[in-house]
Amino acid sequence: MRILGIETSCDETSAAVVQDGRRQLSCAVRTQIDIHRLYGGVVPEIASRAHVESIGQLTQMALDSAGLTLADIDGIAVTAWPGLIGALLVGVNFAKGLASATGLPLTPVHHLRSHVAANYLAHPELSPPFLALIVSGGHTSLVYVTGYTEFQTLGRTRDDAAGECFDKVARVLGLPYPGGVAMDALAQTGDPEAVSFPSAEVRGAPLDFSFSGLKTAAVNFLHNAQQKGQDFCKADFAVSLMDSVAQALTGRLEEAARQVQAPALVLAGGVSANSVLRRKAQETAQRLGIPLFLPPLSLCGDNAAMVAAQGYFELQAGNIAASSLNALATKEIDTSKL
Ligand code: KG4
Ligand code: ZN
Repeated sequence: MRILGIETSCDETSAAVVQDGRRQLSCAVRTQIDIHRLYGGVVPEIASRAHVESIGQLTQMALDSAGLTLADIDGIAVTAWPGLIGALLVGVNFAKGLASATGLPLTPVHHLRSHVAANYLAHPELSPPFLALIVSGGHTSLVYVTGYTEFQTLGRTRDDAAGECFDKVARVLGLPYPGGVAMDALAQTGDPEAVSFPSAEVRGAPLDFSFSGLKTAAVNFLHNAQQKGQDFCKADFAVSLMDSVAQALTGRLEEAARQVQAPALVLAGGVSANSVLRRKAQETAQRLGIPLFLPPLSLCGDNAAMVAAQGYFELQAGNIAASSLNALATKEIDTSKL
């Protein structure tokens, strides 16, 4: 079964074709990073307009590079939630148009479910159940994946997402958007113990996170140094912050894995590209004696191949959109809360 995936939830426009949820036949991605960098972050209105300009062309590119036409496609999958509403609406309306013109079934895909599904493309042996740590620019959660379309949230951030924390601190540090990527590059040479940050723990909720205190401490450190004209090593600062965030994430990942006796661990989302987090997750898996699955760097960020992969499993589960399908800015990943 060949699925055409469409992704426009944030600042990447993408279309892809995936066979049976596992084999990527093509994936065309156009990032808007250069446009948004001028403003230091994503400007929603500009993102929507850029999606409108690109989505038709990228869909044709995805079909062409797979050597296929729409007649060879068996279903369409589109990111319908959560995300920037104007951006999501571009993809959802485009996909609805395609579905009604071709008569193909259309399935709505949850953005975080698709980040998890990026791992199915890279690891043929991976199948639920497993414990996923999903870390992106807008979300940070620990999710027990009991089936391809069965999800149970065990913990989540109470305030900022990990990616948001990196992006905001990086901006104050004077690094270009997206800050997480620039900070990771900077962090390759520093000393992780050089600067200490408050813990990201939430009292009484051992599987939840809170990154706002950490973010504020980091921003205060930078403002203090600036006001006093004090010099500091940016690499030390960056790697210390990443180490604290990764420590918080993997500490709870380990705790949750023990609680549910998870047979495997999975990382997902843009921040799963982070070198410190990947290393710490590996150590966690080794301590637990269970396998860890990491998305390849090419599939960590937003892309339509992961949407098509998850779309295959959603269609198999009978999740077909009505013609009234609308995009939603927020929606839980959990099966019980659909
Ligand atoms: O999943 P994603 O591409 O978009 C959302 O769904 O939000 O995640 C983007 C986030 C941004 O906050 C970006 O700074 C962060 O992922 N990111 C990283 C790295 N690469 C991307 N953060 C830390 N280290 C990286 N290597
Ligand atoms: Zn994402």
